[in-house]
Amino acid sequence: MHNSKLNLADIRKEYMLSELDEEIVGEEPLSFFNTWFLEAEKAEITDVNAMTLATVDALNTPHARTVLLKELDDAGFVFYTNYLSAKGNEMKSNVNVALLFYWKELERQVRIEGTVEKVTDIVSDTYFNSRPEGSKLGAWSSPQSSVIPHRKIIETNYAKYAEEFSNLDIPRPPHWGGYRVIPKSIEFWQGRANRMHDRILFTFDSEDKKWYKYRLAP
Ligand SMILES: Cc1cc2nc3c(=O)[nH]c(=O)nc-3n(C[C@H](O)[C@H](O)[C@H](O)COP(=O)(O)O)c2cc1C
Repeated sequence: MHNSKLNLADIRKEYMLSELDEEIVGEEPLSFFNTWFLEAEKAEITDVNAMTLATVDALNTPHARTVLLKELDDAGFVFYTNYLSAKGNEMKSNVNVALLFYWKELERQVRIEGTVEKVTDIVSDTYFNSRPEGSKLGAWSSPQSSVIPHRKIIETNYAKYAEEFSNLDIPRPPHWGGYRVIPKSIEFWQGRANRMHDRILFTFDSEDKKWYKYRLAP
């Protein structure tokens, strides 16, 4: 018999670690994100750069999965993937995406919404070349998101590419590279006692090219 019922009503936690005010966050959300990221790294959070990426497909159905943040610059948040994957197709038909970080040990969440664009070939090449050989071969071997009849297919592919590129620099596959999420809004959430959390939202005004800051009710 299947039993998939869970009673979770009694799981309860108070958030007590820290607080967030308008002054601490400053006026530049990317720079404040940087500060929080460094604090999360310092706190030795596992997979600190793991973020949920939400996309929307051509039928308006949302999809979410984890990817790794690999670069952050003044323009935005960069991650790498297979351009022909499900998410690649979704971002081709709809450039609106959302990113989510939850650093539970710090009782912090960051929500980012914006549009996505591919990074340049040079940027993708530079990152690809920095990867270990096994990851490079993995990128060649996996038709990401396709249904495959069994695991052996990708293992055979891996062996084939290992042979093909033995003693050669492994080039970046044309179907693999980076995307940059250019943020339109960034919200910082700090857990507080009694569900009276702090939420500071920044939205970017594309006309006057400025970030505006708001406090949201929890
Ligand atoms: C911790 C973690 C990190 C991941 N990082 C990436 C990543 O950087 N790029 C990627 O393509 N998939 C990554 N994945 C796998 C994705 O979550 C997902 O399974 C895959 O990209 C296929 O997604 P799609 O079919 O929606 O395109 C990661 C998964 C986990 C759990």
